[in-house]
Amino acid sequence: MSKERIILALDVSDADYALELVDRFSDHIEIFKVGLELFSSAGPSVVRSIQDRGKKVFLDLKLHDIPNTVARAAIAATRLGVFMFNIHASSGFEAMRRCRDSVVELCLKENLNRPKILGVTVLTSLGQNTLKEELGIQHSLRTHVRQLSSLAMKAGLDGVIASGHEVSMIRNYCGKNFLIATPGIRPSWRPPDDQKRTMTPREAIREGADYLVIGRSILSQPDPLKALDLITIEMLTAK
Ligand code: C5P
Repeated sequence: MSKERIILALDVSDADYALELVDRFSDHIEIFKVGLELFSSAGPSVVRSIQDRGKKVFLDLKLHDIPNTVARAAIAATRLGVFMFNIHASSGFEAMRRCRDSVVELCLKENLNRPKILGVTVLTSLGQNTLKEELGIQHSLRTHVRQLSSLAMKAGLDGVIASGHEVSMIRNYCGKNFLIATPGIRPSWRPPDDQKRTMTPREAIREGADYLVIGRSILSQPDPLKALDLITIEMLTAK
């Protein structure tokens, strides 16, 4: 179960190292996340190499642009064959809708697998104060996450990325089929780093997250496979 639900964030810049990690975790992880750092340095070829190994890729580029541009990027990601990608929900309804419609149309026309599209709500590195004081958003963080989640749902996205603290609220509001991927996961033995809205693996699963996106709590540990083992045990004992 945890094999399908932990997404390992390959937050490295070297393609060879990234692929070494994929091989090392191959028996334990099905979905690997390629984010801004790895994609900017190694490009689509690293995504293909991961997929050639029989693994799925979550392309975490957090698209945030005008509707035409995000829709075209979404088409490129779909042709690349990724399992999942994301767009900032604050790009607005039209951008998300165009993204989804272009992907659906392309997949029907070219008989491709349709990637799951998730909306990024509020980054887990942001807290209530940052939202208010830096971004000028006056309502509460939870209200903001709820608003962005319901906008993503209305636009036809498959789900959202949100911190563990908002999972049950989103679940109640958007229903059980709406996917929720949760970063900011910190077991009790790992400091929060730059993340603010953190949660342990056990709590996040209890709250109802479908996927846990985990990077440093595994990869920066002295024994990463052991760290994954501990996290897996926590998840299995969550229910
Ligand atoms: O190392 P750590 O587990 O904090 O990494 C979390 C990963 O999840 C990072 O790759 C980060 O880019 C990603 N992420 C996030 N918050 C989001 C979406 C993605 O932290 N809202």
